[in-house]
Amino acid sequence: MESPDVGRSEDVRSTGDGMSVSSPSLASMNALARDVRRQDLIWGVAVFSAAAILAALFDLLSWPVAIALAAVPAAALSVRFFWEARRVERTLERTDETHVPALSPATAEALVDRIPDPVILLDSEGRILFSNSASHALLGNQAARRHVSAVVRAPGVLEAVQLVLSGAPAQSVEYAIPVPVERHMLAYVAPIPVAERGASRNGAVIVLHELTAQKRLEQMRADFVANASHELRTPLASLSGYVDTLRGHAKDDPAARERFLGIMADQAARMRRLIDDLLSLSRIELNEHVRPETEVALDVVVRDVLDALAPQAAARKVMLESDFAPDLPPVLGERDELVQVVQNLVDNAIKYGVSGGRVLIKVARAVPVAGEARRGAANYVAVQDFGEGIAREHLPRLTERFYRVDVQRSRQTGGTGLGLAIVKHIVNRHRGWMSIESQPGDGTTFTVFLPWARPPRAPGEATAARETVA
Ligand SMILES: Nc1ncnc2c1ncn2[C@@H]1O[C@H](COP(=O)(O)OP(=O)(O)O)[C@@H](O)[C@H]1O
Ligand SMILES: [Mg+2]
Repeated sequence: MESPDVGRSEDVRSTGDGMSVSSPSLASMNALARDVRRQDLIWGVAVFSAAAILAALFDLLSWPVAIALAAVPAAALSVRFFWEARRVERTLERTDETHVPALSPATAEALVDRIPDPVILLDSEGRILFSNSASHALLGNQAARRHVSAVVRAPGVLEAVQLVLSGAPAQSVEYAIPVPVERHMLAYVAPIPVAERGASRNGAVIVLHELTAQKRLEQMRADFVANASHELRTPLASLSGYVDTLRGHAKDDPAARERFLGIMADQAARMRRLIDDLLSLSRIELNEHVRPETEVALDVVVRDVLDALAPQAAARKVMLESDFAPDLPPVLGERDELVQVVQNLVDNAIKYGVSGGRVLIKVARAVPVAGEARRGAANYVAVQDFGEGIAREHLPRLTERFYRVDVQRSRQTGGTGLGLAIVKHIVNRHRGWMSIESQPGDGTTFTVFLPWARPPRAPGEATAARETVA
C-alpha cells in the first residue's frame, strides 16, 4: 500500500546548472496524492464490510452470494480511487517536468542588475560578459566585451582576476580611485563557471564595494585622537616646563614662583576643561540615538543660564538682552544638556562678539518656513552678537571638533574648540536643528530649534502649554 515516495526526493531539485531550487508547493501536492491513495483503501474496505454486515443482518441472501455481491462495488470503488490517485500523481509528474526554474536566466540577470554594488562577469580570457547597472557609473556604459584591464585600472584587482581565472580561489583586494574625488573600494574576485562555445569554462565575477565613507570615518577618528592628544600635550608641556623652572633658577625667587604657580594653575584648569568637554562629548554621542523623554520649559533654562553668565558678561562690559515669547509649549529634552547648549552659545557670543557690546537672546516658537514644514513645530533660542562676525568659509566647519577660526584667541579665552561640537550633538539627540548666520563686521546669530514635547493641537494648544510652563 505504500506508494513510491515521490515527494521527498523532489523537495530540492537541481536546475542542471549547479543551482538548487526548493519548491515547497510541489512537495505539498505530492503529499495530497499520497492521501488520496490512502483514502481509496479505507473506502474499499468500508463498503465491503457494510455490504457484508447488511446481508448478514437481514438474511436476504445466502452468505456466499451476499459476500460476492458486496465485493463487486467494493472492488469497483477501490479501483476507481486507485486510478484517481494515479491520475493526480501523473499530473504532478508532468507539472514537475515543465516546472519553470525559480531562477530563470532572465530573473538571474535582473537580480544581478538590481544589486546596488557593481557586479562584473568575466569570461575565461578576462573580457566583460555582463556588468550590472551599478557598475555603469564606475565603468561607463561601453564596458561589454572589453577586456577588464580597459575599465579597471587597479593593478591589484587585475592580478586577482588573473589568479582566479587560472584556478585560484576567491580573493579580496582593496584599492583607491584617486580622481575626480578619492574613493576607496573593495573588490571581491571569485571564480564562476561561464558557458563559452557550448562548453563550461572558468570565468570570474568581480563584486565591488565602496569603502569611502568607512575610510573617512576611520580617518576622522584618527584625526580626533591626534588632535585631542595634541591639545592635552600643550598644557602638559607648559606644566612640566614650569616645574623644572621652579626647581631650578626660580627656586629662591618668591615673586617669580608666585607668577609661575598662577600660570601652572591656568594650564591645569585648561587640561581639566578639555577632559570635561571630551567626556561630555563622548557621553552625548553614546546616547545620541536615544531621544530625551522629559518635558522642559526652554525659557526657564535660558533665564537660568543668563543669570549664571551675568558676572562674566559684566566683566567684559557686554549687555545681555533677552526677549521671551509668552506661553511657550515645553520641548522634549534633557535639562542639563539644554543648559550646556545655551551656555556654550551665550559664552561664545560674549567672548567673540565682545566688541559689539551687547548680546541679544531670543526665545520663541518657530514659524514654519515653506519647504521646512516637515521639521514640525518647535521652539527656538537665537543668540545674536554684534561683534566681528565670522567669514563665510568658516561657517560649515564651526561645529567640527577643535575647529577654531583663531586658535590663539580661543585658547586665551579658555576655549577648547569643542563647545559647538557638543552643541551640535546635543541638538541632534533632541531631534532639533540649528542655523548659523553671520555678516562679517555686523555680528553672528546662532539659532537652535527644539521640537515640542507634544504635537500642536489647533486653537486650544496655547492653554495646554501655559499649564506646563507655569
Ligand atoms: N559668536 C561668535 N562669533 C565669532 N566667532 C565665533 C562665535 N562663536 C564661535 N565662534 C568661532 O567658532 C569657534 C568654535 O567655537 P567653540 O566650538 O565654542 O570653541 P571655543 O569657544 O572653545 O573656541 C571659536 O573658536 C570661534 O572661532
Ligand atoms: Mg565655545
